[in-house]
Amino acid sequence: MNIRTEISVLVCCLVFSCLSTSGSPSNGVGSEVIALMGIKSFLVDPNGVLENWDEASPDPCSWSMVTCSADGQVIGLGAPSQGLSGVIAPSIGNLTNIQTVLLQDNNISGNIPSEIGKLSKLQNLDLSNNNFCGQIPTTFSHLKNLEFLRLTGNNLSGEIPASLANLTDLHLM
Ligand SMILES: *[C@@H]1O[C@H](CO)[C@@H](O)[C@H](O)[C@H]1NC(C)=O
Ligand SMILES: *[C@@H]1O[C@H](CO)[C@@H](O)[C@H](O)[C@H]1NC(C)=O
Ligand SMILES: *[C@@H]1O[C@H](CO)[C@@H](O)[C@H](O)[C@H]1NC(C)=O
Ligand SMILES: *[C@@H]1O[C@H](CO)[C@@H](O)[C@H](O)[C@H]1NC(C)=O
Repeated sequence: MNIRTEISVLVCCLVFSCLSTSGSPSNGVGSEVIALMGIKSFLVDPNGVLENWDEASPDPCSWSMVTCSADGQVIGLGAPSQGLSGVIAPSIGNLTNIQTVLLQDNNISGNIPSEIGKLSKLQNLDLSNNNFCGQIPTTFSHLKNLEFLRLTGNNLSGEIPASLANLTDLHLM
């Protein structure tokens, strides 16, 4: 199946709430802060939407575009249509609790990092309408909880990894 073959599935309404609950990070200035600061450093952010991501204010639950669970784990990153470019840092693979990553309608380029395959709790990933190139990482087959994967409107090449077809609940768009 070619990546350019769009599989039309009724798109579930993914209303992403940027309301983050308060709560202290479970592991102090932990790996999530380091991972997010890594992501910020690889992105170009002309509108300053990530401006309050700051190690001096190390509760990522208070940062824009970040959503936390009630117990202070980072479970969502949502910055669609924010004029972002640059690339996605491999440190995204250290956001071990993340369930939702919505970065659609930006101008992010480079390869989709294979480290995303480490995000075992990931349910929704939308990278559509950016400038990604290369192939869908084969590590995506490890994303057993992935339900929505949206990659259209990029410059991806190659086949959809066959192993992705085995993710039973996946809606690929
Ligand atoms: C992920 O976290 C580990 C341990 O904190 C660190 O050694 C590693 O460099 C991080 N990986 C990336 C890609 O930042
Ligand atoms: C997107 O980024 C590319 C370079 O990566 C640049 O050539 C292009 O003009 C950018 N498009 C927009 C809409 O910003
Ligand atoms: C798409 O990617 C190919 C390489 O895979 C590159 O040669 C081409 O310039 C890219 N096109 C755009 C519009 O970025
Ligand atoms: C998909 O699952 C089938 C049956 O469970 C298995 O035989 C096959 O090897 C799997 N394919 C991939 C690419 O993981």
